[in-house]
Amino acid sequence: MSMENSLVSETDRLSPCIELTIVVPVFKEVGNVDRMVAALDAALNGIKWEVVFVDDDSPDGTASAVSDISSTDRRVRLIHRVGRRGLSSAAIEGMMSSTAEYVAVIDGDLQHDETIIPQMLTAVKDGADIAIGTRYVEGGSTGEWDGTREKISRFATWVSQQMTGVKLSDPMSGFFLVGRQTLLGVVHGLSGLGFKILLDILTTARPALKVAEIPYTFRIREEGESKLDTSAAWDFTMLLIDKKVGFLLPVRFVSFAFVGGLGIIVHFLTLTVIYQVVEKSFFWGQAAAMAISMVFNYWLNNKLTYRDKRRTGIHWFTGLLSFMGICSLGGAANVGIANFLYAEEMHWVLSALAGIIVGAVWNYAATSLYTWRK
Ligand code: GDD
Ligand code: MN
Repeated sequence: MSMENSLVSETDRLSPCIELTIVVPVFKEVGNVDRMVAALDAALNGIKWEVVFVDDDSPDGTASAVSDISSTDRRVRLIHRVGRRGLSSAAIEGMMSSTAEYVAVIDGDLQHDETIIPQMLTAVKDGADIAIGTRYVEGGSTGEWDGTREKISRFATWVSQQMTGVKLSDPMSGFFLVGRQTLLGVVHGLSGLGFKILLDILTTARPALKVAEIPYTFRIREEGESKLDTSAAWDFTMLLIDKKVGFLLPVRFVSFAFVGGLGIIVHFLTLTVIYQVVEKSFFWGQAAAMAISMVFNYWLNNKLTYRDKRRTGIHWFTGLLSFMGICSLGGAANVGIANFLYAEEMHWVLSALAGIIVGAVWNYAATSLYTWRK
């Protein structure tokens, strides 16, 4: 090794190591990236920190906004994910990219109050496993939320406390700080579904984590808009189901089967309208009902079951074709198997059920491999 080389690496090696990684999941936050770095810079004086923005290929150029800053500021890093969506999985990926002793997760829209991060760090250094920024303890508040959002949030808080047995004032918070070793202890059990990463961590940890709650005021969003639409409620339900029965059944299958159940209702509605009301042709009624319920099932699975891999634009249509092709085979297998069992003198209800189960499992497995592969 040359002298010059070893001098360079010596200087690099001796510069103080990063103590805290701040993970910021971002989707369409181009107007907030600069503000976020400035806010962290002001709040984290005296701490050796870095920030990792985890962007899911936002169409507004969030990723290039991050790389622009990072070209002049080495504390700023970017993880640019393509083909995936999801707040929780983004947070996990960001945390796992850290080599610091402590990692924090904070929203990228400045709604969480970054000025309490030093307090959170002290709490964990003083022995807590995890420090949580919370809106409900004395001194904390939800800022100027409207009544509906406040009610929904309180209800979801209550449900998650009931289902998980985690007694916390704000288990729905997405603002926390942990030691990396603590994180490594739970990461294999995380669902990574939806947007409640903290709840995921708390319900996975055995034994329960020692929590420090730090109050703050949830700010109003000034730039960009919230990503949490009504389907987020579905994600939340799926996370809770996964925590309860995930060891028995993949939660996506539960969701797929549920959508399939709704598809049967759609089928019968269509059939009734066409056969009974309009056309009086059972054959055409049944054929149309089958086509419409398949489109319905595809649309809803794309929206809910495979929300994180959802297909859009032209890919929505190609996905529909592969879905319909696969489900037609599933339907044929369903009828074939049911018929075979029936011919072997199995009870007709059991024969039908067996056909349905085989068809559903095929549809689920094959569409997860082909339609929503990524
Ligand atoms: N990478 C990535 N991928 N980031 C995302 C995604 C995604 O699919 N969806 C949202 N984000 C980012 C947003 O850009 C923002 O930085 C942060 O996650 C929070 O998203 P918002 O859309 O602002 O959510 P919110 O303000 O309604 O919800 C927040 O408050 C909740 C408290 O009720 C989040 O912090 C929740 O985690 C928190 O529970
Ligand atoms: Mn927000």
